[in-house]
Amino acid sequence: MPALSNPLLLKWFNAFMRLSHRALAPLVPHASDIRLPLRGECRAGQVYLVGAGSGDAELLTLKAARLLMQADAVVYDRLVGDDVLALIPNGSERYYVGKARGHHSVPQAEIGALMVKLAREGKSVVRLKGGDPAVFARMGEELDALAAAEIPAAMVPGITAASAAAACMGIPLTDRGHAQQLRFVTAQLCREDGTPDWASLARKDETLVFYMGLSKVRAICHGLREAGLPDEWPIMLVANASQPEQQSLVGSLADMPEKLAATPLPSPLLDCGGQRGAKSCHNARYPSHPCLLCTANHALTAGFAVHVLRF
Ligand SMILES: C[S@@+](CC[C@H](N)C(=O)[O-])C[C@H]1O[C@@H](n2cnc3c(N)ncnc32)[C@H](O)[C@@H]1O
Repeated sequence: MPALSNPLLLKWFNAFMRLSHRALAPLVPHASDIRLPLRGECRAGQVYLVGAGSGDAELLTLKAARLLMQADAVVYDRLVGDDVLALIPNGSERYYVGKARGHHSVPQAEIGALMVKLAREGKSVVRLKGGDPAVFARMGEELDALAAAEIPAAMVPGITAASAAAACMGIPLTDRGHAQQLRFVTAQLCREDGTPDWASLARKDETLVFYMGLSKVRAICHGLREAGLPDEWPIMLVANASQPEQQSLVGSLADMPEKLAATPLPSPLLDCGGQRGAKSCHNARYPSHPCLLCTANHALTAGFAVHVLRF
């Protein structure tokens, strides 16, 4: 519009637009006025296995939020954030079954028995787990316990740590050109012979995400280098992904163990490697290699202060 290239006219036009927005504001619905499509019940005598997401309450699904507000009882773990727990109404029963510092978790059988007891009392029960309840969260055992007692169960997925960390670090988990595969691995190395299949893990066309890996960073870096990934293959560790206290460390397979020793990170932690991870610090587009992501062992916490990267 040539007339608007005149600076004075442009100024008046912008002022007019601002005024008209203000005048129309009462007619435009506010976020709080918008009715969300929250349907569905929370049935008595049923258990809902619900993902709490990675900590940021805004990453909770609408279904999860609704069930939390409706359930008679909520059984929850350590990795569930306070903002998410704040959605539980005062009158609802709460049962914490996570690991206390220096103590063991509540045995799985006891958690199963508690859910069965609450459901048999005719309560609607939410079993709230960090991230996605179907990813490294012993959901199979809990479903078995409920099935054995003939308690109906339903699942509600959540944002898993890998998705949250990748988003917070500004990297994609897959890429058409560089990472056509994505693998979630438990770093607890619980295969029968206790050794991961490094040869199958050391691929250059795949993003690897290690969960519970904080205590295994040295072993992972060593195993992947021995199996053929180059020393300079970038790796990134992300702790408390999506939370205000998020921290990260960027390095290579060769130097990450020393970097982590010099700058310990808290748990839960996400460890992200590959050129993509390192470049993402500079907000670069996906570079020429996929990255490696590891989440780390939440049992380990450590003092830290130095290396904080926010994206
Ligand atoms: C028992 S697994 C549970 C995973 C969870 N079900 C999920 O889908 O994210 C716990 C591990 O998940 C990872 N984790 C969970 N939340 C995280 C977060 N906010 N940031 C980084 N890692 C996280 C850590 O590796 C932690 O040791």
